[in-house]
Amino acid sequence: MKLSDKNIFSLPGYKSNKHLPEIMTVTSGKGGVGKTTISVNLSILLSRYKKRVLLVDADIHLGNVDFVLGIRPKYTMADVIAGDIDLRDIIIKCSQGIDVLPASSALQDLMEKEEDILKTIFNAFAILGDKYDLIVVDTGAGISGSVMSFVLGADKVIIMVTPDPASIADAYGMIKIIKQTHSDIPIMIITNMVDTSEEGESLYKKMELMVHRFLNGSVIYGGAILKDNLISNSIRQQRPLVLNHPNSTSVNILKIIARRYLQLPNLGENKASFSDRFVPYQDIIIGAGE
Ligand SMILES: Nc1ncnc2c1ncn2[C@@H]1O[C@H](COP(=O)(O)OP(=O)(O)OP(=O)(O)O)[C@@H](O)[C@H]1O
Ligand SMILES: [Mg+2]
Repeated sequence: MKLSDKNIFSLPGYKSNKHLPEIMTVTSGKGGVGKTTISVNLSILLSRYKKRVLLVDADIHLGNVDFVLGIRPKYTMADVIAGDIDLRDIIIKCSQGIDVLPASSALQDLMEKEEDILKTIFNAFAILGDKYDLIVVDTGAGISGSVMSFVLGADKVIIMVTPDPASIADAYGMIKIIKQTHSDIPIMIITNMVDTSEEGESLYKKMELMVHRFLNGSVIYGGAILKDNLISNSIRQQRPLVLNHPNSTSVNILKIIARRYLQLPNLGENKASFSDRFVPYQDIIIGAGE
């Protein structure tokens, strides 16, 4: 039986809707704006608040969380989908204090298995959920159905935006879908690659004004991360910034963002079960267009 044919929420190990972890999805619309950088570093910082964190690389075809963390997954989701290995055995315990569900590598043969990969990840939420307090989902670029599945199923969403007009337009497009379909999900904006913190804050204010005026909603300010060579160097060195340069300005800002994240309103108690929240991506596409 193919994984996609199974009712994933009746698999052994799935427990009822109790002690569910919080799901934070990091997204942007536009590519290359810092989603993975922030997902990795915020996950490590949040794990220091006695949170058991699972970082999920949900950039299905081009995931690089493993690269940023400098880890080498032995098995991938391809092995789980093939039925060769248990889902639990592809989770990597990182020395940085977080666990990671890596994306698949060697994806050429998996191009047509996107739905299977999605179900494997949703399955991980269900089976592993009670082991974690927080699941951080690093999405790929765009607003494809698979990305929107993770966004619209989340408890909280972080949207990365840079001063690039294309990034602003894509971030607004993402916020519009969320506000029109799931208006209760708190959205935190992190501005990235700005020249000054003032520029970052005014970029947030511009977004907040648009959301207020045209969508009758609001977004929350996370903080502004400046263009910083230490960030790009850390990626090249495959060592997360928070470990590589723990006393840098960018890490201090990330710590403020982590604290602000922890203060976001929590709607977890009112949320539906995973099986209602994480639905096949074709359904999301239809729903989002209504
Ligand atoms: N504040 C910053 N200053 C300098 N470089 C940065 C900054 N933030 C991110 N970068 C660099 O930008 C590049 C893209 O970052 P990252 O991979 O985190 O983006 P992404 O949104 O995950 O991309 P993708 O959409 O491809 O998944 C990386 O090389 C990273 O080092
Ligand atoms: Mg990325």
